[in-house]
Amino acid sequence: MPGSYYGRIMAAKKSASRKSRPARPARPAEGGYTVPGISRADGHHVAEILQKRLHSLNDLALTLKHVHWNVVGPHFIGVHEMIDPHVVEVRDMVDETAERMATLGVSPAGTPGAIVAGRDWDDYRLGRATTNEHLGALDIVYEGLVADHREAMERVSETDSVTEDMLIAQVAKLELFQWFVRAHLESTAGDLSTSGAQDEKGASQRASRAAKKRG
Ligand SMILES: [Fe+2]
Repeated sequence: MPGSYYGRIMAAKKSASRKSRPARPARPAEGGYTVPGISRADGHHVAEILQKRLHSLNDLALTLKHVHWNVVGPHFIGVHEMIDPHVVEVRDMVDETAERMATLGVSPAGTPGAIVAGRDWDDYRLGRATTNEHLGALDIVYEGLVADHREAMERVSETDSVTEDMLIAQVAKLELFQWFVRAHLESTAGDLSTSGAQDEKGASQRASRAAKKRG
């Protein structure tokens, strides 16, 4: 009963208790150890690179579910059902990335606030939209994420082959998922309708136009 007297009292109490709650003491994310065989500084540097990948994967898992719920129009069920197994796999990647960070001696940041504060990309823009619009936008999402994963792979390759190996396996799956998306956007000549798009909005418009032309 949000408009009722009781509802207003409870909302006021909730907000007062939120304000009076003491802030959690800040603790350093970095612990006093890392894995054997590499220096603590190197191990923690690798974990720092992984923190950004963790934000990206967490963001992707949430975005994929958002698409799963918001996709409409022809081919709805195919796209709706295609996405869920990807979510499961991406959540596994989130878990292994965070646990690799902890293994390296650094506390992984996985709260929603940490994701928003730590990311340097905009939130996914589409709400309710057609399968082609969402798939076009998702192609661009994967484009950025996979490129950043590859860059992280390169950066850790000198120091930590175990982390590199984990990222290689993740990239292989992410590229496969992008192909699942792209196969819907590909012409019989092998051209992608999203080709040349700079952002999600442009990609979704191109994908939608191409689908209309194909009829
Ligand atoms: Fe569902």
